[in-house]
Amino acid sequence: MKTINIGFLGCGGIGCGVWQLLRQMEAEIARRESLIIHVKRILVRDVGKKREADIPRELLTTDAHAVIDDPDISVLLEFMGGEQPALDYLCRALESGKTVVTANKMAVALGWHRLFAAAGAGGAGLYFEAAVCAAIPIIRTLMSSLSGNRVDTLMGIVNGTTNYILSQMDESGRAYKEVLAEAQALGLAEPDPASDVDGHDAAYKLSVLSSLAFHARVPYEAVHREGIGQVAALDVAFAKDLGYTLKLLAIAKREGADVDVRVHPTLVPSKHPLASVHGAFNAVFLHGNASGDMMLYGRGAGSAPTAGAVVGDLLFAARQTRHSIPGFEHRADLPPNLRLEDNWRCAFYLRFEALNQPGVLGHIATRLGEHRVSIEAVVQRHTEGNERVPIVILTHQAREKDVKAALGALDPAVAQVKGLLRIEGQGS
Ligand code: HSE
Repeated sequence: MKTINIGFLGCGGIGCGVWQLLRQMEAEIARRESLIIHVKRILVRDVGKKREADIPRELLTTDAHAVIDDPDISVLLEFMGGEQPALDYLCRALESGKTVVTANKMAVALGWHRLFAAAGAGGAGLYFEAAVCAAIPIIRTLMSSLSGNRVDTLMGIVNGTTNYILSQMDESGRAYKEVLAEAQALGLAEPDPASDVDGHDAAYKLSVLSSLAFHARVPYEAVHREGIGQVAALDVAFAKDLGYTLKLLAIAKREGADVDVRVHPTLVPSKHPLASVHGAFNAVFLHGNASGDMMLYGRGAGSAPTAGAVVGDLLFAARQTRHSIPGFEHRADLPPNLRLEDNWRCAFYLRFEALNQPGVLGHIATRLGEHRVSIEAVVQRHTEGNERVPIVILTHQAREKDVKAALGALDPAVAQVKGLLRIEGQGS
């Protein structure tokens, strides 16, 4: 029987979940893996704080040095969150040869170079399955199972809070602000929801996923990001009628040497597998040259699902005789051709508020045509007597900068764009 001494950095909801899962699985892990996991020290901010798990007080310390530099501890589990001081602590531990298991997406996304360099220098293991989509095993899938593929598309619902809000808007027809307030009252959205609703959380996760999928470093700053705050209930309803469902997608695409990475509200055909991901669930859909289309689905947050991923990484690490770092270009700052801002192609949903007069549709269609944007469908509802009417146009695949140029060329007295949504997943 082998024994490993481990330390925790942080002990909030996830740390307590890991403690409980380790207790729950203790006998099974000993039988299955011939392994005893001994939690030796736990770094916390406040030793006296009431916790969700019954953790002996003598394990708790506020002294980071007592955990990170304890020579008996060989593996550190990190659940502090945030970039600092977590990143400095993790690098210090890795350089001294301690293996790290982290649930911290921000530290991994922002500290990528430092973490991998420190792991290499210390010959230590760096594992972060829990940092992206909690229970969904997407990190090891990309690093290992799919490494024989060339992945060209990855589209994920990687934030449960926004998926819950958009699912509610879709089901009930209610406005964003009303649904957000209800989600906050129910404890399903944070009192300060910015990290989720503005897409930061998804962008950190996409930086990590796309770096692994494309074997090239895609920094967080390269991710184009738009949140769900501007989503209008009217567009959700129009799109639903047209056979589309609105999701906040984290999208990474590769065409030849060109890569684009973006987080924004996106319409997917209602028959696409991502459209059936409701509530707080997460899913990652991807396409590989050998695998074809596939989707991983599950719980992307919560203390138990995250703890399961942490303990899985811990057991994986304990089985290794030598930790390896995957063979991708993690030191390169940018992939060769990172498509910037609006240079990508997709189909578009455009909602105009237009004068109810002859020639208006022609004006819009002409401006689009002049900028190489081809129309797939047009919807105008019968609205007798109104001076202005909504017109919805779906386009074929077009370059975003062409669409924006066409919209900029419209006569605002005739037609103004009031809703613009990208459409993905039509070919799947
Ligand atoms: N706040 C995230 C979500 C979970 O709503 O999915 C942690 O990344």
